[in-house]
Amino acid sequence: MPEIVTLPGLIDVHTHLRVPGGEHKEDFRTGTAAALAGGITMILGMPNTTPPLSTPEVLQQTAVIAQQEALCDVGLFAGASPEQTAHLPHLASHAVALKIYLNDTFGPLRVEDVPTLRACFQTWPHEKLIAMHAEKQSVAVGIGLAAAYDRPVHFCHISRREEIELIADAKMRGLPVTCEVTPHHLFMDERDRERLGILADMRPVLGTPDDVAALWAHLNDTVDCIATDHAPHTLAEKQSATPPPGVAGLETSLVLMLTAVAQNRLTLNRLIELMHTNPRRIFHLPEQPETRVEVAMAPAVIRQETMKSRCGWTPFHGREVSAQVKRVILRGQVVYADGRVLAQPGSGMILPSLY
Ligand code: NCD
Ligand code: ZN
Repeated sequence: MPEIVTLPGLIDVHTHLRVPGGEHKEDFRTGTAAALAGGITMILGMPNTTPPLSTPEVLQQTAVIAQQEALCDVGLFAGASPEQTAHLPHLASHAVALKIYLNDTFGPLRVEDVPTLRACFQTWPHEKLIAMHAEKQSVAVGIGLAAAYDRPVHFCHISRREEIELIADAKMRGLPVTCEVTPHHLFMDERDRERLGILADMRPVLGTPDDVAALWAHLNDTVDCIATDHAPHTLAEKQSATPPPGVAGLETSLVLMLTAVAQNRLTLNRLIELMHTNPRRIFHLPEQPETRVEVAMAPAVIRQETMKSRCGWTPFHGREVSAQVKRVILRGQVVYADGRVLAQPGSGMILPSLY
């Protein structure tokens, strides 16, 4: 019999759910099913939808759909945009955090001007986090803003040596910054981009082996969270003339990280900090009572045929891992068991809530 390990419900603070406007890639039902299959019971949805989650109307309507459809708990990010800064205080009541895109990626959300950045840091409520897509020297911009306004900034999907070292320096000075790293930036590098082509294209792009080594070296101190950046696109879109960046990640994140535990690259306690304790503390997320994930420490192969995500493919197809998610229990209910999602649509809670 394989060893069974019990974990708390895991939290992914970086998921793209594609509602509204991209439901052919993913919707709340398929995205939250993928989360449960991956041992994740709470996800934070990103705002780069069509239209984006940048007005109170769109954010509120999307939260209503999430409430009807979600199989696990869901919070939504509001997206900062130069045209909508007056809405920021109203957006906050429906969002768990604000996302600012400083660099190019999928979708039109972008902030490139100082007045918008000042408006965000001055008017977004202090008790809610500001998260940033910042690459290379944009990380320094985010650190500068954290210092200037004396408020926490969370850096999404840090992928390069220079970035993680800059954040380590900022933390050493006591600045209120945190960061996440994705499994694809830990388990793949630019050579996989050559092997897999466009199926291994995402923002930030895969790093050099030296970047990957730096992320692993900082996993026990500077890195705060593992986040999936689950960014589903259909195979047809990826193989089109204008392929969008992004790969799925909800169903592979935990089993990949547990494989690293089996290889003594990190401890199980550290995995729990990175995928549960720290995300909850940093984003002020509620506890999920009577919630746990049971995994078997047994060899398995990642297969895209069994994926719950609507996109139906993963760059990790065929990869051997050392763990399998067996059962997920959310608020006392078995919501996933042996490959089957058992939760009812609408049983997930939408944050912020009173809980
Ligand atoms: C994301 C997407 O597809 O929405 N793509 C990606 O490559 N990560 C956008 C993002 O997170 O930057
Ligand atoms: Zn993302």
